[in-house]
Amino acid sequence: MAKADVVVIGGGCMGLGLARGLAGRGRKVALLEAGGAAREASWAAAGMIGAQSEAMEDDAYFAATVVSRDLWPDYARGLAADTGADFGFHPEGGLHLAFGAAYESRLEAKYLWQKTRSGRVERLEKEDLRRRFPFLHPRVSAGYLAHGDYWVDNRALCRALEASCRTLGVEIREGCPAEPLEAEGGRVGRVRAGGAEWEAGDVVVAAGAWSTPLLKGLLQPPPQVSPVKGQMLSFDVPESLLPSVPLHGENLYFVPRRTEEGPKLLVGATVENTGFDKRLTGEGVEYLLQGSFETIPDLRSCAIGEFWAGLRPGASDGWPTLGPTPLKGLHLCCGHYRRGILFLPLTVDSLVQSVLEGSLPEATRPFAYGRHLEGEGRGL
Ligand code: GLY
Repeated sequence: MAKADVVVIGGGCMGLGLARGLAGRGRKVALLEAGGAAREASWAAAGMIGAQSEAMEDDAYFAATVVSRDLWPDYARGLAADTGADFGFHPEGGLHLAFGAAYESRLEAKYLWQKTRSGRVERLEKEDLRRRFPFLHPRVSAGYLAHGDYWVDNRALCRALEASCRTLGVEIREGCPAEPLEAEGGRVGRVRAGGAEWEAGDVVVAAGAWSTPLLKGLLQPPPQVSPVKGQMLSFDVPESLLPSVPLHGENLYFVPRRTEEGPKLLVGATVENTGFDKRLTGEGVEYLLQGSFETIPDLRSCAIGEFWAGLRPGASDGWPTLGPTPLKGLHLCCGHYRRGILFLPLTVDSLVQSVLEGSLPEATRPFAYGRHLEGEGRGL
């Protein structure tokens, strides 16, 4: 039987990030990934670090997204220093758009709410919008810049996390699906995966949409995490159609990305509860194309670089579940839904504390397993 201080199940950005965090503190870490490292939701994502982009509610969730966003610049500097990698971390914010009068009043409400929370928003008059973003469709009638938000090339980020893990001696096993976990005497200390077995001081479940089946029979109830499909595409664009910041419509977003093959514009995403089905559909692609042309008409003449879909780890109450459990040695890191990249630095800090000290930092205590049992927070 192999031995590790910590076995991390799941090799997405979360699994890689916390394996790196724990290995950096001298722990012997094995990371077990059913498929290939960072080939699921972390790969399919667009890389937005948008605490301000969707929030309209003053709750613990919004507070935690702001904490995590504010950790990002240091986190990115540290990873870049460790690896020498450029993973396209951008601190320039995002542009939120309105399409006509009905949208405008909703955008105005969002702007005013954001302004009182962060103050880092800037309304753009129509002429200003046209001058700075001349490629936008004439039906785009208003917009504001959210200066506090960031974005990153999520695929390059995951490659950097993986490289850093390997440098720190993390044993990464790909093609190694874990079996449902079992407890002995109130403790989880063994993981069977891919025909082998690990003995571990601590086990962290960070398996995204695949987390719940690993926990069935162990925790009552297990955190309910289920797949939520997002279909996406990218256009190969000329510089003249590359926005300087991500664009947020009401239902679609557009993220600029510079790659070795040239500039691209990522467009996402559908939100579909269709189980573990990652196939693209006619309707999904139509939705993306139609929304693209209604935002940037000249995309019609651009080549499509790629179509893809991923499965977000959707939690039944929309909040992640993090940290220790009633079972000794078992820690949870699941249910980040649409905010995995945003939540990365705070989640890493939280799970490192969970493993080393058995507790969570204040910002993520509302996400603890058991919140539903104690009548705190929201039900699972
Ligand atoms: N985080 C973007 C999405 O889930 O589509």
